[in-house]
Amino acid sequence: MRRVTPLWTSAEIESATGGRASASFEVTGVTFDSREVEPGHLFVAMPGTVADGHQFVASALEAGAAAAIVSRPVDGPHLLVEDTAAALTALAIAARDRVPEAKILGVTGSVGKTSTKEALAAALERRCRGRVHRSVKSYNNHTGVPLSLARMPRDTLFGVFEMGMSNAGEIAALTRLVRPHVALITAIAPAHIENLGSMEAIAAAKGEIFEGLEPGGTAILPNDTPHRDLLLRAARRHAGRTVTFGSGDADITAVHAVRGNAGGSLVTARLLESQLTFTIAQPGEHWVSNALAVLTAVEAVGADLAAAGLALGDLGGLKGRGERHRVAVEGGEALLIDESYNANPASMAATLRNLGTEPVEGRRIAVLGTMRELGAHSDEAHAGLAPHVLDAGVNSLILVGDETRPLEQALGGQVEVQRADDANAAAELLLKTIHPGDAVLVKASNGVGLARLVERVAGGAATCST
Ligand SMILES: Nc1ncnc2c1ncn2[C@@H]1O[C@H](COP(=O)(O)OP(=O)(O)OP(=O)(O)O)[C@@H](O)[C@H]1O
Ligand SMILES: [Mg+2]
Repeated sequence: MRRVTPLWTSAEIESATGGRASASFEVTGVTFDSREVEPGHLFVAMPGTVADGHQFVASALEAGAAAAIVSRPVDGPHLLVEDTAAALTALAIAARDRVPEAKILGVTGSVGKTSTKEALAAALERRCRGRVHRSVKSYNNHTGVPLSLARMPRDTLFGVFEMGMSNAGEIAALTRLVRPHVALITAIAPAHIENLGSMEAIAAAKGEIFEGLEPGGTAILPNDTPHRDLLLRAARRHAGRTVTFGSGDADITAVHAVRGNAGGSLVTARLLESQLTFTIAQPGEHWVSNALAVLTAVEAVGADLAAAGLALGDLGGLKGRGERHRVAVEGGEALLIDESYNANPASMAATLRNLGTEPVEGRRIAVLGTMRELGAHSDEAHAGLAPHVLDAGVNSLILVGDETRPLEQALGGQVEVQRADDANAAAELLLKTIHPGDAVLVKASNGVGLARLVERVAGGAATCST
């Protein structure tokens, strides 16, 4: 049996943060959301923009937190620091320092970060169960990344961290904390273009991930972007080795990919000198691309490629990112693909393409909501979905949110369109529209709330494994 050691002792936290502990304690986890506290956790009272974390210290301790990091004394075991956010970052730095033997992998990109991070962790776990640490959810920003690092157990062999940004300079700061041996960019697409202004600026901001590479580290980047050369230049400034994945002249490429009956793909990939044939449980060309990136990263850290292939074949759908539900409808069943977690032009195109290749007996229905954070590009980006809707052979479209009107106009009556103001209204329309044998794609930015529609229509439904 593995020896159970605490994640942090109060003495270690004192020495990492320069704070003062009110008592001696040990913690088994770290969190800054009092609703997530489990017995034994360290609760960090962060200076929130909405509410000050100090308000929740009492409830965190009541829920079993072993101690809290605070900037003013509280009742109960705590560690007093000047700045709690800085203390969390200090803990993150100490966490990274204490695993000098671990291989650390950093993932960024405009789409597919969480999908790739989860697949990568699963691929490494296959041979190394219990010794792979990863960020949870999309904890990828200036608080999420330090939190994910601070949670890394001291016996970690592989650490996989997601890094995101909404502005230039953010990834540069995060990657210097993560100090990856392998830095991976999934794809470049117009997400957060509102803040960054241009696709070049987005690519450059993603390329910042290479700045934190450990000496001799590996940079992995997508071949299929007009900004590949910009990324290559950024990579070569910092990496010992640079590998491209995708199509054309990419170093790592799928020589052959066929869609399986159940939705996934059978892929033969050329990986530098070798060839590997594997299945991916998750459907879609974007998953072929993510899988190539995953295998490249697995190879770069010297882990087992065959085991990684097995993991990709087993990968379950991620909630809101492609999870497939069999929904009972009068007279039979329909398929509902839950992509409610996020949407931008690239992921909309990828998943519509996927819907188009879905074998269906009935009709193809798409419930599409607003893609947010597109600023001045919003109308053009929504209208730009029209060819993808048509190519996918969508028979019936339910549009949610005013921003989707340019799409309706661009379709010019070629597809049946119904409009809804919100997720609940869209659910009503969908329930009236759906028939046995139909396939339904549900996709929008998370804030549109289509997860509620999925819950309403598919709550309790069986989840298909592919
Ligand atoms: N390589 C890819 N190319 C295009 N679309 C993709 C790719 N991988 C995943 N997607 C699509 O993007 C959606 C979001 O995926 P994911 O959550 O992995 O992205 P993310 O980059 O982590 O997003 P966030 O910025 O919200 O953290 C998925 O549901 C899927 O539709
Ligand atoms: Mg994410």
